[in-house]
Amino acid sequence: MCGIIGYTGTLDAKKVIIDGLKELEYRGYDSAGIALMRKDQPEDPIYIMKEAGPVSVLEESTKGDEVASTCGIGHTRWATHGGVTDQNAHPHTTGRVTLIHNGIIENYRELINSYNLEDSLISETDSEVALRIIDYYYNKYQDPYRAIKKSVGIIRGSYSFCILFSNIPGKIFCIRNVSPLVAGVSEKGSLIASDLTALLPYTRDYFVLPEHTIAVLDPDGITLQDLEGNEVQPEMLHADWDVESVKKGGYPHFMLKEINEQPEAMHNTLKPRLQDGLPDFSEEGIPDSLFQDCREVCIIACGTANYAGMVGKSIMELILRIPVSVHIASEFRYEDPLIDDKTLCIVISQSGETIDTLEGMKIAMKKGAKTISIVNVKGSTIARESDYVLYTHAGPEISVASTKAYTVQLAALYLLACRMAYVRGVYDKEQASAFMNEVLMVVPVITEVLKNIVGMKHVSEKMMKAKDAFYIGRSLDYAFSLEGALKLKEISYVHAEAYPAGELKHGTIALIENGTPVVAIATQEKIYEKTISNVREVKARGAFVTLITKKGKEVGPEVCDIHLEIPDIADQFTVFPVAVMLQLIAYYTADGKGLDVDKPRNLAKSVTVE
Ligand code: M6R
Repeated sequence: MCGIIGYTGTLDAKKVIIDGLKELEYRGYDSAGIALMRKDQPEDPIYIMKEAGPVSVLEESTKGDEVASTCGIGHTRWATHGGVTDQNAHPHTTGRVTLIHNGIIENYRELINSYNLEDSLISETDSEVALRIIDYYYNKYQDPYRAIKKSVGIIRGSYSFCILFSNIPGKIFCIRNVSPLVAGVSEKGSLIASDLTALLPYTRDYFVLPEHTIAVLDPDGITLQDLEGNEVQPEMLHADWDVESVKKGGYPHFMLKEINEQPEAMHNTLKPRLQDGLPDFSEEGIPDSLFQDCREVCIIACGTANYAGMVGKSIMELILRIPVSVHIASEFRYEDPLIDDKTLCIVISQSGETIDTLEGMKIAMKKGAKTISIVNVKGSTIARESDYVLYTHAGPEISVASTKAYTVQLAALYLLACRMAYVRGVYDKEQASAFMNEVLMVVPVITEVLKNIVGMKHVSEKMMKAKDAFYIGRSLDYAFSLEGALKLKEISYVHAEAYPAGELKHGTIALIENGTPVVAIATQEKIYEKTISNVREVKARGAFVTLITKKGKEVGPEVCDIHLEIPDIADQFTVFPVAVMLQLIAYYTADGKGLDVDKPRNLAKSVTVE
């Protein structure tokens, strides 16, 4: 996700903005840029410098430029639409309007067509499309408020915009939907930024810009008005955190921040791919023939991405009734796999750089399979080398333990499963859009789970003292438990095994002793009773059982010690709230043990060795 800053006041704007960008760089940094309003050149008021690379490159390039300016905007980019190039870097400018953007414009293709923009766009970004719309209405109305109001009525998606109008000196216009913006006023001027880190050197008093509210910054203060023109009073907040903790958005660790970012990441990954309620990959150029012609699906990935693949397999087989196999990439490479040109190969990787996954993909391609990668990091090797790429829009994942990347990988797999079902005639339009509607509904469900963490903290108190733990479930619940056990192992160093609940009695149940923690997942109605029988078996042998079910299940103390409930949603979608619960159990266990949650021992974020 991109970093944004705007400043207008009495200080040297270039310095304030570049310093701010450095603070925001952790949000992602494939390019950076600034736009400054010159005081001494009214005939050419806007100075822009932007380029691919970190802020240090931008700083170097602007070093010799003496710009007389006390008002400007700056941006660090984490590419979503369009490659990492100087042209795609922000700010974007046209006519009298200069803009920076964080978020994703969902209907940008539609806007290009409706406003005949195809031939005039300079970059490949959705942001430039938003800029052109605002410019169009500014030319029409000659009024910045009217232009912004009209534009945001047309633009769909998540956005925070900071805008300069070259004929309105010293003022910055801002508005947001979903994507964050915080603002504050100091003795030296007014500031706005995508997070508090950039504001703190100047003020600790700030407010969160309410959505759909236009903020206008000038050197003396900030005024707010809603889209009806009514004045809005912001709710002032005071930050007493240190700068390090603010980079984590006030969370003690990136992992917790990233867990909490899941609703937004899901929204950003799903929404741009839905047209009339149906998954649509025309933006990605993925042809339907790929889905129609394949006889089977083969998923290749490592670690968490592989466990997302396991869920994808169950969902796809259930809906499509074609064989779906999931391969650990490091094994796949040496298996001489049974795939051919009738195989659709889905390659999943957060980083897009995992060497085993990359090499596995190359083998699949050599055997004639068509490849679609699901990747979070734009322009990464796997994304570039696969036949097609479906980017997840989780923003940078900094903590080594993958959390938000997992849920958006699932979201991408559900999109693919649904499109395949539709084009193969398994689902009609109504069924496909009902399915996607249920996927979208998990966004508020996740939000609800995130609001009530008491139960997960309670489980973690038991886990902290354990040497071993077990995660059990049947069918889809088993696929979820694999990821739950991995999360616990990698950050809390508690040995954890995921087991199909019905398989325990064939050996592993011998390991259950008095007090052994068992997390049992029972969200699948069809086999609910069967799973509960297995839970009773471990409980009878002294296990300390945490049971996760849908709301409304009656379970007594003979079944479990802690009962965690997720909202009552259809079986196929329970992975999302369950995943969040399991992530939080792992997080609070590791944190409670005083471990380095974000950088667990022996692990690297991107595994580029075999
Ligand atoms: O970048 P990738 O998704 O390809 O990474 C795959 C695994 O290395 C990764 O998921 C790893 O298992 C994480 N540490 C899990 O939290």
